Amino acid sequence: MKLIYERSQAGRRAGRLPHYELPKAEVPEQLRRAAPPRLPEVAEPELVRHFTALSDRNFGIDTGFYPLGSCTMKHNPRVNERVVALPGFRDLHPYQEDEGAQGALELMWNLQEILAEVAGLPAVSLQPAAGSQGELTGLMLMRAYFEDRGEGAQRDTIITADTAHGTNPASVTMAGFKLEKCETDARGNLDLADLRAKVNERTAGLMLTNPSTLGLFDEGIVEVARIFHDAGALLYYDGANLNAVCGISRPGDMGFDIVHYNLHKTFSQPHGGGGPGGGPVAVRDVVEPFLPSPTVVRDGDAFRLDYDRPKSIGRVRGFGGPFGVFVRSYAFIRSYGPGLKEMSEAAVLNANYLLAQLKDTYELPYDRHCMHEFVLSARNLKRDYGITALDVAKRLMDFDIHPPTVYFPLVVPEALMIEPTETEPKERLDEFVEAMRRIASEAAETPELVKEAPHHRPVRRLDEVRAAKHPIVRFGFEEVTTPA
Ligand SMILES: Cc1ncc(COP(=O)(O)O)c(C=O)c1O
Repeated sequence: MKLIYERSQAGRRAGRLPHYELPKAEVPEQLRRAAPPRLPEVAEPELVRHFTALSDRNFGIDTGFYPLGSCTMKHNPRVNERVVALPGFRDLHPYQEDEGAQGALELMWNLQEILAEVAGLPAVSLQPAAGSQGELTGLMLMRAYFEDRGEGAQRDTIITADTAHGTNPASVTMAGFKLEKCETDARGNLDLADLRAKVNERTAGLMLTNPSTLGLFDEGIVEVARIFHDAGALLYYDGANLNAVCGISRPGDMGFDIVHYNLHKTFSQPHGGGGPGGGPVAVRDVVEPFLPSPTVVRDGDAFRLDYDRPKSIGRVRGFGGPFGVFVRSYAFIRSYGPGLKEMSEAAVLNANYLLAQLKDTYELPYDRHCMHEFVLSARNLKRDYGITALDVAKRLMDFDIHPPTVYFPLVVPEALMIEPTETEPKERLDEFVEAMRRIASEAAETPELVKEAPHHRPVRRLDEVRAAKHPIVRFGFEEVTTPA
């Protein structure tokens, strides 16, 4: 496919503006362009064709099954887009005074209330713009909490699981804590003996996702919470996997003190490709005074932003947070109404259906019922036929299926982390099972077919290291002569 620059023909235009005799703008000499920018010159139909063709070559939840573990790529209901485009929301200016933004503030306040109920914790800040920013905010809250108690210097360590998502250790380091990892036991839970040996008076807290990245609910969570609280430490819940437990179990009831939500996963936002996201945090009352400022509060029938928060860690995001994401999440939650737990029940059912269908073909490292996702291993295919998890993932693309997450969590060799979500019908799940089984047969019978996949995508195998380390994101004007 040609690049837009390669379609360029000198003098072509997508549109023409009328010419007016206006005085020239007074742009200081040093800021003036010496030459016009080198933009592609194409007519509008060609422009439309180019971008339509490009969008066709992409893969998204709207084009097919997308079981990318941990990412919760569920259908984004179109009603959300209608609601977020209502002029009162769409045209709202972030500097609008509270009196003129009552509807928006009420929506934010309602969302805070619902999220508090889902977490089982009393106070919420909507500000963080992603799960990872929620993590950093949560750790800053821990620091503020311990500093306020005069334990700031003492409590310098955070414990994470060895299955933790990469953002957990990154956030711990960014927040200035030391990192310690707890091992996973044979059933996929935190190893309690290892934990007991590591928790002490230097421990600030635990950072854990439950269900874990193995898709397993930690059976020892009540004891885990006791160990940390007995040591005076706090528990942080990475809510990236909340899709498994909404309305069924609440992190606050499990003993967690600080929680983040990934609004873009659990409550549906079109988030593939880097945005937009929302990572609100909920906290127990002892942590509430430190929440980012401002929060949205209710005075009788009126709503306002509250800046009078002397112990707050301050702002973590411009204005009130990613407002469009709040509107979509709110619309999504209200469409379910009190039946929100049906979402999680269906997500868990779909995952267990796939697990049951595939566990005899691929290795299952932890043979338990899963939550909303599960991890298989392609270790058997590698051992017997030299076919890796990466090969399986690439071959799936030939079946118009987005690959699952691979090689994560790190504790499972040749990991395939599969999350179907609740929005997939049985026929799609069966197609996936069929494709996975067929790839396993091909691994035995025609391994080259799998090794060289994908065969039917616009792009074949890439040198992924080179693509990551030396991405070409700029058109090579010097190497190409523009057609006359
Ligand atoms: C378990 C887990 N924790 C944290 C995150 C980080 O969330 P975000 O991508 O919104 O920063 C993710 C994202 O995939 C995740 O899967």
